Amino acid sequence: MDYFVSSLELDVQRDFMKKVHNITVGKKFYVHSFGCQQNVADGEKIKGQLSLMGYEETSEIKDADIIFFNTCAVRENAEARVFGNVGELKHLKKNNPELIIGLCGCMTQQEHISQKIKKSYPYVDIVIGTHLLHKIPEFVFGILSNRKRIFSCEDSFGVIAEGLPIKREGNLKAWIPIMYGCNNFCSYCIVPYVRGRERSRKSEDILLEVREVIAQGFKEITLLGQNVNSYGKGIENEIDFATLLRRINDIPGDFRVRFMTSHPKDATKELIDAICDCDKVCKHLHLPVQCGNDRVLKKMNRHYNAKKYLDIVEYAKEKIPDISLTSDIIVGFPTETHDEFLDTVELIKKVKYDLLYTFVYSKREGTVAAKMEDPISTKEKGLWLRELLAVQEEITLERMNLLVGKTLRVLVDSHGKTQGYLSGRSDTNIIVEFIGDPSLIGEFVDVKITTPCNWAVIGEKI
Ligand code: 5AD
Ligand code: SF4
Repeated sequence: MDYFVSSLELDVQRDFMKKVHNITVGKKFYVHSFGCQQNVADGEKIKGQLSLMGYEETSEIKDADIIFFNTCAVRENAEARVFGNVGELKHLKKNNPELIIGLCGCMTQQEHISQKIKKSYPYVDIVIGTHLLHKIPEFVFGILSNRKRIFSCEDSFGVIAEGLPIKREGNLKAWIPIMYGCNNFCSYCIVPYVRGRERSRKSEDILLEVREVIAQGFKEITLLGQNVNSYGKGIENEIDFATLLRRINDIPGDFRVRFMTSHPKDATKELIDAICDCDKVCKHLHLPVQCGNDRVLKKMNRHYNAKKYLDIVEYAKEKIPDISLTSDIIVGFPTETHDEFLDTVELIKKVKYDLLYTFVYSKREGTVAAKMEDPISTKEKGLWLRELLAVQEEITLERMNLLVGKTLRVLVDSHGKTQGYLSGRSDTNIIVEFIGDPSLIGEFVDVKITTPCNWAVIGEKI
């Protein structure tokens, strides 16, 4: 529990916020988070700090006086996208030399990336790793005072800074991290190297934050962590994740709860029982299997085999027949053969996921898999991926067809694609569109499903 940033340190940062506040009148910030929801949640803390420093948010990057990109390193194309976007900032800086450009997040936690930015992107002012977000006020003050570039990416187990200001997007859906970091070291994954070791927030702090957002009118809460199932491990007298779900469910109010991500090796019957028992917890489980072949799963260091995975899926379906299952799949892990890949196809046929997030394996420098033989070309892996997607497309359609005639509780979040329609998400995270009055945006509405289409289902308000 020595990973909490001290209140003294946070006071120091608050003083920097006040100092900066005097010089930022009328100035604007632009923050963009690439990648996963954890990054989006971090981005809301960056926005919160910049707001308290006196900056106003702008959605136009060209109007900004300070820009932060919160980067993602999970796959090579994610990094390429960030570099592309950073490249485009050059002309903005040329037009406005006072512009402050900051990069943070998973990508910049890697030394070789930080060096590359130092050398090749001289107009970037601040480059910080994942463990220093709470020090943004100090860094911004530094740049405003002397314009000396800041590179700070200390390697550490990671910290938790409680009580940072948060500027959330909208007032309907709130992201609430419950833990940070990852201890699993799946052999393909860069996350444990850039986000540090697993560390959980105190349940009292989480429950307080949930109560706060409910009081503010938020209707959907998503609990975040790389592996929420190991919440609380290593902390004396702390509750486990299933109990945390039950405690949140007991909080009065009309809201629903989602969570991600669950590692199958730690997905327990107690977790499924909690999902089943808690009326506010969505009947949806994102349980990334990655692959359906036991040899490859071992090489991936996933600590389960296909049978163990299917056992927990079976238990979940038995307890919660309507449960929606989704997964991540990596195609073309080093040394994987086409026959082994076909085991993944078999597995998805057995599970019948509503939706899959599929990725071609991407080599990440510094990981164990990066040193493995990888004889299959990316082009061929792309063909395997297409094969998998064709099978999943049919399964998705079959699953959507099953919804016809059923009534789903939808949290309406926007206008639909067609004039006069509204759009929202079901408990199981499926997009539902129906004709309705725009005043229903932000409300829960019961919708009877009439027609499936490939990206959503259409229905009628009842
Ligand atoms: N290559 C491809 N996909 C990856 N993921 C993580 N690392 C890699 C990689 N090196 C995928 C996994 C994970 C999701 C968030 O990203 O499927 O569950
Ligand atoms: Fe990466 Fe595995 Fe940790 Fe997920 S559980 S973040 S895939 S190492």
